[in-house]
Amino acid sequence: MTPTKTKSINIEKSKLVNNMFNRIAKKYDLLNTIMTFGQHKKWKEYAVKLALSELKHTETALDICTGTGDLLLTINKYCKNCKITGIDNSETMLDIAKRKINKINNLSVRYENFEESENINEKYDLITIGFGLRNLSKQESSINKIYKTLNPNGVFACIDLGYPTNILWRKVFFFYFFSIVPILGLIFAGNREAYSYLPNSLTSWYKQEELKTLLLKTGFKKCFYKNIFGGVIAIHIATK
Ligand SMILES: C[S@@+](CC[C@H](N)C(=O)[O-])C[C@H]1O[C@@H](n2cnc3c(N)ncnc32)[C@H](O)[C@@H]1O
Repeated sequence: MTPTKTKSINIEKSKLVNNMFNRIAKKYDLLNTIMTFGQHKKWKEYAVKLALSELKHTETALDICTGTGDLLLTINKYCKNCKITGIDNSETMLDIAKRKINKINNLSVRYENFEESENINEKYDLITIGFGLRNLSKQESSINKIYKTLNPNGVFACIDLGYPTNILWRKVFFFYFFSIVPILGLIFAGNREAYSYLPNSLTSWYKQEELKTLLLKTGFKKCFYKNIFGGVIAIHIATK
């Protein structure tokens, strides 16, 4: 593939993803709860606890692709005195996050396209990304940027879809994801298209071991992952 072609595919994906989140923002939290059988907050809590247990002290945290801000609230629950920032490039998702974090002084959000931003000046002890990396067009360079944006010994936590190893379970999950999820999207968000994108994004996404290898190749000195729901969800924790 020529670089020009790759670039235009990246811009197309970026626009598609951005339009999609702007359209579904108001229904995002509801759909998330329905699609995950109410489990997504527990996964976020587990990821944050795992990440914090790898850190000696945590003063600053950045949540990339923060969306409606759940991870900001989760980090705040376990890291009370931490300064926590969320960034996202969807104004409509951020509007909901702003309402949720209202009046919590140590939490803030700002509009920012992580892929396009110049290297972020501030450095963080903890960086999280929940169901976001898969949606980015330039995943390798984003991981590189995350690495550079961490303080020494800082921790990166990534929660995303995984690849179930058991063949039968994988078939069940893929059926749910490719056939049921778009219907749920149509019923509850009035948007089948957006929730068809979701399973399709999985086809070019890293398997758990691949993401671990990539993180170590980037420079992280330690990385492990935990499978949830037989690998439907994976949490990667990487230490700089
Ligand atoms: C699936 S949502 C995840 C939201 C939240 N982290 C969660 O776990 O519920 C993905 C989010 O990534 C954001 N996003 C996608 N591309 C982005 C980019 N280049 N820069 C910043 N945010 C981006 C979208 O706007 C959307 O809010």
